[in-house]
Formats: sequence, structure tokens, C-alpha cells
Amino acid sequence: MAVPMVGRAAALDELRRAWQRVDDEGGCLPAVLTGEPGTGKSALVGALLQDVRPGAVLTGAARLHSPAPYDWLAAVLAGRDTDALPVPPDALAWLAQRPDVPRERYTPEALLRLAVAAVRALVGAGPAVLVVEDLHALDPASLNLIGELAATDLPTLLLVTSRPPDDAVSPQLAARSLARLSGVPGAVRQHLGALDAGHVAQIIAHAYPDASPSAQLASAVWRRTGGNPYRLTELLAMAAGRGPEALIDEPLPGYLQPTGQHAERSAGDQVPEPPLTAREREVLGCLAEGMSNKQIARALGISVRTVTVHVSNLLRKTGASSRTEVALRAVRAGTPADRHPSVHG
Ligand SMILES: Nc1ncnc2c1ncn2[C@@H]1O[C@H](COP(=O)(O)OP(=O)(O)OP(=O)(O)O)[C@@H](O)[C@H]1O
Ligand SMILES: [Mg+2]
Repeated sequence: MAVPMVGRAAALDELRRAWQRVDDEGGCLPAVLTGEPGTGKSALVGALLQDVRPGAVLTGAARLHSPAPYDWLAAVLAGRDTDALPVPPDALAWLAQRPDVPRERYTPEALLRLAVAAVRALVGAGPAVLVVEDLHALDPASLNLIGELAATDLPTLLLVTSRPPDDAVSPQLAARSLARLSGVPGAVRQHLGALDAGHVAQIIAHAYPDASPSAQLASAVWRRTGGNPYRLTELLAMAAGRGPEALIDEPLPGYLQPTGQHAERSAGDQVPEPPLTAREREVLGCLAEGMSNKQIARALGISVRTVTVHVSNLLRKTGASSRTEVALRAVRAGTPADRHPSVHG
């Protein structure tokens, strides 16, 4: 059974308004969605596209296992008629990663210019949505291209999803790309955290319409899954066909067990003492992505003042002397947050 989207109404609303702005005013507007694995970044992108139904959508995702240059553009070009693009055929073959690709004859700068020209031609008069899924796993040439596109006047919503930079092949490079996109004036910045117990209860109630599961059961499931939508949907699928009690009886396979907050850390992790709260971890993740206090406040839906308090607690707890140092440490050590292996999507 399909699970309804819960808990993301405000986020969806902000994205809708961003699309409206692109539609009204033109120009390239980045909207960057970050979050731990399975927090619903892709689901939110899907919900927005369903909702606004843009005329043109160019979607590319990272190839998770063997990144190659221009993976994002190659995914966008796959299956499209490229005859009319203002790009020489040999360069196009290279950018599209065709199997009969000729030897590379272009400088990186020339290829980047041609890549931008190809996207410009595909967008046409626009407005369009450019979807960049899993920026954290993208190759450097694609990251460069996305950064260039963000600086153009193309009438597009540049919708980017990413796990935190510490999940990236090159954390520093991913952090810099995210910071570059977030730094564009007017850019939308959202960090998706876990669902709260009430949202988990809503999803369970939907899955068991005849059983009216108790609040205790919902809260036990919330603790079991850490409020992670992916873990929750997996658990629902595993328990399907039995009563709601199966949600707490069903043994969890290792990949579904919440880690991070409750888990033991591996040696070499720079463990700050005393432990960080869940909110502090989220703020830390945002700092690692180069966000300003104002952006963090908007991304997490809290006031700038509250962010300031979290940041000063982080400084105290980690013994760092500046927010930059906290962010750098987080990037180097891997932000201490919930994660699960990518076994879906
Ligand atoms: N707000 C939500 N309400 C209900 N279900 C959700 C919600 N968000 C995500 N889900 C479900 O949880 C699962 C994981 O979501 P999704 O794949 O979007 O996560 P993600 O953040 O893109 O993960 P990854 O980092 O692995 O790409 C999907 O089955 C999705 O439908
Ligand atoms: Mg995803």
C-alpha cells in the first residue's frame, strides 16, 4: 500500500513558492534539499513535480557505483533527441557518454561551455525544473556544471538533493558545491530531519485503517525506526498481512536498525562529549554544508536566535573555537548522524 506523504507540507509549500517565483521572474533559482539517507528527499521532489507539473523537467542522478565525468548531463541526454543541440557531434558523444565516444579533443573549459549550451538549448524559453539527485555522489565535472548553471539566467528551478557531505566521495568538494548553490541570492535551503512520533502515527493509521493502532504502539515504532521514513516503509512492508503488533514484534534486519544517536561510534570518530542532541546534530550537518544561521533557521523551521543557541552549544561541546572549525571537523570526521546503507532507489 502506498504511504501518504506526511510532515512535509511546509517544505512543499516553500518549494511551490520558489517555482512560482521562477515562473514569474525567470532566472535560475537553486533549491537544495539535504538530509540523511531515507528522510524523503526524492519523495519531496516527486511530490513537487506532481503538484506543479512543469512543462520541462531535466532529471539526472549520480551513478552511485562508478562515477564518470558529466554523469548528470549524460543521464539528462539519455533517450533524448539531441540532433538540434548546438554542440558538435564528437563533443556531444563525449558529454552523453556514448559507447562509440571519440577521443577527447576538448579542454575541460570548452566542454563545460558546451555542456551549459546543451542545457540552455534543452530549457529553451522555459521555465523548467532541473532535478539533480544525489549531488553527494556526483562526479566533479557534474558538480562544476551544476555550479555554472546556478550562475546563469536560465529560467529554471535547480532542484538539488544531497545526503550530508560526509557521505560524498569528496566531502570537501560536495560541501563547497552545496555552499555555492545555497549562496545564490534567494536560494531555498531545506534540511529534512526525522519524522516526529505524530507523523509516524499518521502513517501507521493509514496502513491499518481498521485496527486503530494505539499511541503507545506508534511511539514504539517511532523509536524503532528513529522516525526515518525509509525504515518505516520497509518495516510496514515486512509486517504486511499481519496486525499492527507485527510492527514491534518483527525482528529488524541490521540495515534497518537506527544508528547514530543510539549507536556505538567507530574508533577514530571524534566523539564530542557530552553527546549532541538530535537538533544539534542537524545544526551541525547544516554548518558542515556551509549554511549561514539564517539559512539554517529556515531549513529547520526554527528562529535564528535558537540557531545561535545551538551553535554556541556546539562550540562548547566540541571545544571548537569557531563555527568554521566545527564545520570542518564535522566534514572530516563525518557528521555524527543517523544513516543506513543505500539499499533502495
Ligand atoms: N514524508 C514522508 N511521508 C511518508 N513516506 C515518506 C516520506 N518521505 C519519504 N517517504 C518514503 O520513505 C522512503 C524513502 O524516501 P526517499 O527515497 O525519498 O528518501 P531519500 O531522502 O531520497 O533517500 P536517499 O538519501 O537514500 O536517496 C520512500 O518509500 C518514500 O516514499
Ligand atoms: Mg533519494
